Amino acid sequence: MPMNEKVEAGLNAQIDAEFTSSFLYLSLAAYYHSLNLDGFATYMRVQAEDERTHGMKLFDLLDARGGRVLITGVSKPPTHWDSPRAGIEDVLKWEMTNTERINSLIKLAHDQGDFATVLSLQELVTEQVRDEAVAHELLHKMQLLEQAPGGLFLMDRELRMRAERG
Ligand SMILES: [Fe+2]
Ligand SMILES: [Fe+2]
Repeated sequence: MPMNEKVEAGLNAQIDAEFTSSFLYLSLAAYYHSLNLDGFATYMRVQAEDERTHGMKLFDLLDARGGRVLITGVSKPPTHWDSPRAGIEDVLKWEMTNTERINSLIKLAHDQGDFATVLSLQELVTEQVRDEAVAHELLHKMQLLEQAPGGLFLMDRELRMRAERG
């Protein structure tokens, strides 16, 4: 069965969104590195790789279903943030938007009767729940630690440990 054109376009848009996520995390890695916050930087690099993997999974899915992958461009990420906390706030905002995007894509695939795509996208739903929960948690911790002496150092260590755990 040939792929539904709308679903094909939606999957292509989501490939761009995942690579845009990857570039956002990579830009954050560079920003934190410039502040000598290497734990933050390492964590963001790992996230960038994760997002790239999501993009490639969709690439393979589209390919396997006989669709045509179109790489049409990745939105330019910001390169600077006002504070280490602002970077995490951006991550949370972005992940929430991405969740909405994936939900709409699943609804579209469902409405078009493309249940194979619905099933394949379920993995991304799980990833979104995790990414949003982690971003919320990090933001909370940063708010708590902001006033504490050495708070940023503790946070940096926390993120390094997270990155090493994978
Ligand atoms: Fe993702
Ligand atoms: Fe993500």
